[in-house]
Amino acid sequence: MDKIKEIISQMTLEEKIGQLWQVPFSSAKIEDIKKLAREGKIGSCILACTPLAGNTDNQELPFADMLNILQKEAAEHSRTKIPLIFGRDVIHGQRTIFPIPLAQGASFCPDLVEDAARRMTDEAAQDSVHWTFAPMLDVARDQRWGRVIEGYGEDACLTSQMGAAAVRGIQHKKKDGHIAAAACGKHYVGYGAVEGGREYEKGEITDYTLRNVYLRPFEAAVKENIMTVMSTFSAIGGEAVIASERLLKNLLKKELGFKGFVISDYDSVEQLITRRIAENKKDCARTAFLSGVDMEMVTDCFSQTLGELVKSGEVEETAVDEAVERILRVKEKVGLFENPYTTPDPKKQYRTEDLKSSLNLAEKSLVLLKNNGILPLKKDEKIAICGPFVNEKRALHGSWAGYGDIGSTPTFKEEMEKTFTNVLYCSEDFNIRMRDPAIVRGCDTVVLALGESNVYSGERACVSDVMLDKTQVELAHNARAFGKKVVAVIFCGRVRSLFELEPYVDAVLWAWQPGSTGAAAAVRALSGAVNPGGKLPATMVKSSGQIPLYYCPDNNPCCISDAYYEEPEFAPYLDFSTMPMYPFGYGLSYTSFKISNAVPRQKSITAKELEEGKTLSVTADIENTGEYDGDEVLQLYVKDMVSSMCRPVRELKAFLRVGLKKGEKKTVELKLDKSSFSYFIPGKGETLEKGKFELMLGNSCMGGLKMNIEIK
Ligand code: GLC
Repeated sequence: MDKIKEIISQMTLEEKIGQLWQVPFSSAKIEDIKKLAREGKIGSCILACTPLAGNTDNQELPFADMLNILQKEAAEHSRTKIPLIFGRDVIHGQRTIFPIPLAQGASFCPDLVEDAARRMTDEAAQDSVHWTFAPMLDVARDQRWGRVIEGYGEDACLTSQMGAAAVRGIQHKKKDGHIAAAACGKHYVGYGAVEGGREYEKGEITDYTLRNVYLRPFEAAVKENIMTVMSTFSAIGGEAVIASERLLKNLLKKELGFKGFVISDYDSVEQLITRRIAENKKDCARTAFLSGVDMEMVTDCFSQTLGELVKSGEVEETAVDEAVERILRVKEKVGLFENPYTTPDPKKQYRTEDLKSSLNLAEKSLVLLKNNGILPLKKDEKIAICGPFVNEKRALHGSWAGYGDIGSTPTFKEEMEKTFTNVLYCSEDFNIRMRDPAIVRGCDTVVLALGESNVYSGERACVSDVMLDKTQVELAHNARAFGKKVVAVIFCGRVRSLFELEPYVDAVLWAWQPGSTGAAAAVRALSGAVNPGGKLPATMVKSSGQIPLYYCPDNNPCCISDAYYEEPEFAPYLDFSTMPMYPFGYGLSYTSFKISNAVPRQKSITAKELEEGKTLSVTADIENTGEYDGDEVLQLYVKDMVSSMCRPVRELKAFLRVGLKKGEKKTVELKLDKSSFSYFIPGKGETLEKGKFELMLGNSCMGGLKMNIEIK
């Protein structure tokens, strides 16, 4: 019998149930928690004491020495001596804050996402974090939803590749052979489809769409051996996910083969009462546990009633054993049995190389949306800077900002004054025509630092209107009135719309909420030290009335789906366009690129070859034809020409960010495999249909070099 099974065989039922409970840590309650640990009544602590940890500043940072004291109660003084596992939302940084995940998606650089995840995990380990509730794998196509910033955008392929990279980074192997920390894929499943972009709403997702879109990133994470998954608050078509044996036990655990454990989201087990799915805690425990939830976050339904349910035979003790085993195996993999304590190494916090890595990723995340040739700016250009983000620090960290040192965060103004020799500072108010006319009249260029406060995105931070704040549009309008060149730098969480702002500016640099060093990234791009190469991971609409608007709708009989790509013969809306402000995958550069000679290595491939794992490659030449070194993101889209079910007008299936020096030319290769062509058909399962496919290689979803291939 192996060690874990040996331990379980020695445990009482109460001790087993204890492992299934995660309680919030608070130093004010440390004595109560120590008692629970000593009595074997808890298996984990979440290092947060509010469900809104993402938007709660100045949270208590439990230091390792205090957590070691708590750990000792479990690891040395409890009867089983099973250590606690400490979990925390280290979403994009613990102390060194990296760009928000949506910005990381814009980089189209999975390697950098993996690097950031590895670094934040190593830093969080100094604060006894053994398990982080990341990556968020929710595909989201409604920017009104506040949590869009925590994911990687509207596309299943991009989200899958970035999510898998984050899992690799978090769950990297340490020198001692143990896994650095457990990752947690969340929120299983379909949370991104909340109706109206309203928090916690249900999502009306068919099985077809669930499988072909929302589930894909979780499939990818399970293939990366993710160790935990968090169930979502939301419901799909009337089925509360946390109460769905179909989705949790059968789909996630059996069909996808997920071997880790499922934790419920904060309070959501007991919320089954408010959902009127359960009458009392016992109902909640029975429903959630039998559906496949292994550990309960914060509420105590399992702790209070699972024992009775086992004694009454409603829950098999063997099922409890299985849940305990899943949890103990994770504790074992992260090395808690060998060493449950943390000896913090200050040299691993706020590391210079981590800050440099954060700056690099922030730079790669920058998206140049417009440039009438005025960027980059000259070092001695007379620049008037103004706007609400000139002196902003906190919002640069975004939601889930961890314990970022806001005070030491350089502001946009500081970085501008370090970089340019003639920076004139206007007041932050919104009427520069009244307050600072002389400054603006005396300058060559006005640079507006605009954006969105961190409190306007993240959990329970949804908006009904994604247009950029009207006062900021007015500021741009005022600036334009002086007849100067106007640049807008946008520090935003979600992809807000610039439809009203765009006419007043000559250039737009989208800088996201870029983390500890984000202002520097934006300023380095304005100066030309960095050539922006990021691409939009989500569509920018022209109006909130267009939502949901995304690049890969299914074809429809009147080709209205093409209305994303061109104003159709008859408009799907009588009163407005259906084209985006800026499309998925779009982003400019200071240089120009030529993509040519895109050819598939073979014009056809058999279904059998694809089933056997053979890939179909596309090669192409890409040349930097401009005046700056720069990056381009090659995007390979697939279109099924004839299929049994309605398929998207195109779908991203492979991408590659390529760096090219001025004048340089490279030949690159992108690979497609079976999953690039197959799709899930309800009642038939994952299906690869023979027939013709159109491939499109471009630098956004809007177009590119087309190739025809056939699966025989
Ligand atoms: C929150 C969030 C979830 C987070 C958890 C713990 O409600 O939905 O993403 O991991 O609670 O903070």
